[in-house]
Amino acid sequence: MSEHHFITGLAGFIGSHLADALLSDGYTVSGLDDYSLGRESNLVSAAKSDRFHIGKADARNAQETVRAMQSCVDRFGPITKVWHLAANSDISAGVADSSIDFGRTLQSTFSVIEACKSLNIRKVAFASTSAIYGEIDKVLEEDTGPLMPISTYGATKLASEALLSAAAESALDQIWIFRFPNVVGSRATHGALYDFVKRLTAQPSFLRVLGDGTQWKPYLHVSELVEAMRFIVAKASDKRNVFNIGPDGDGTLVKFLAEETIARVAPEARIDYTGGDRGWVGDVPRFSYSTAKLAKFGWKPSLTSDDAAKRAIHEIATENGF
Ligand SMILES: NC(=O)c1ccc[n+]([C@@H]2O[C@H](COP(=O)([O-])OP(=O)(O)OC[C@H]3O[C@@H](n4cnc5c(N)ncnc54)[C@H](O)[C@@H]3O)[C@@H](O)[C@H]2O)c1
Repeated sequence: MSEHHFITGLAGFIGSHLADALLSDGYTVSGLDDYSLGRESNLVSAAKSDRFHIGKADARNAQETVRAMQSCVDRFGPITKVWHLAANSDISAGVADSSIDFGRTLQSTFSVIEACKSLNIRKVAFASTSAIYGEIDKVLEEDTGPLMPISTYGATKLASEALLSAAAESALDQIWIFRFPNVVGSRATHGALYDFVKRLTAQPSFLRVLGDGTQWKPYLHVSELVEAMRFIVAKASDKRNVFNIGPDGDGTLVKFLAEETIARVAPEARIDYTGGDRGWVGDVPRFSYSTAKLAKFGWKPSLTSDDAAKRAIHEIATENGF
């Protein structure tokens, strides 16, 4: 029996790509999703494997999480690693109703830790975010602080990191915390590129863009993210392992994203900027990441942020029939 990996948020954008990659590495992959944002169609390829299984469960509920994990253990044997990806991935939804972040992000982390304790699973990898840093006007390094997130999304991710760190002192042997930038690619369930393509499909004559187009962020293609996550988990052997993952070099302007999406999907459309320097309350308008720790560790992306965004625009447009 191959090593057994369990993914929460398995039917989501990143979870489904991670599953495909782990299956092609030869591992057994199981997991759970409540399908609040995830889709069965993301798992068409994975579901062909007899080393794959997904259960429907709500990770906010520790007992449901234990039951979902136990049924995968019954099927495939002990779980060696949990990749905890289930969360609210929509920052603005959490601004409107912070109980969404509290439940889907923080409570789910608590449940996953409790489930690991009860099934004696001792290794957890966690999808954290650049949003934990808040609005700090310098290059963000893993030990930058003090950390003052400006969204409940960022706050509940930071609190999840803290819960996992505490668990690493007792129930867990090892944790890996990945701080992602904006991740883009096929199967996206949310995000600026996804929104742009959807809006232009519904209304091809104009594109409403939040802010003034000068927001500037690093974008990483999901294929490179999944490669980096697997690299880190295979090589980083400390008890607590924290890594920023991001593209090399500069980030990408929202204006560039809007213009490239229009060129691909609706070349006649005009852009209507709503104005102001940020997209929504809780949005960090500009940040730059240091990925020096990961580079020193031996992993570097091959795509720039602009190239990753362009590739993702093409993929999302193709999925939507353009
Ligand atoms: N995509 C990005 O740019 C980005 C950036 C930083 C961090 N992240 C983190 O990476 C992880 C994956 O994000 P994604 O972009 O694939 O988003 P996603 O929404 O596509 O995936 C999250 C999955 O979790 C599931 N889920 C949510 N609440 C659940 C619950 N209570 N029980 C069971 N399943 C639940 C959703 O149905 C979805 O399938 C998330 O933790 C997200 O916060 C993503």
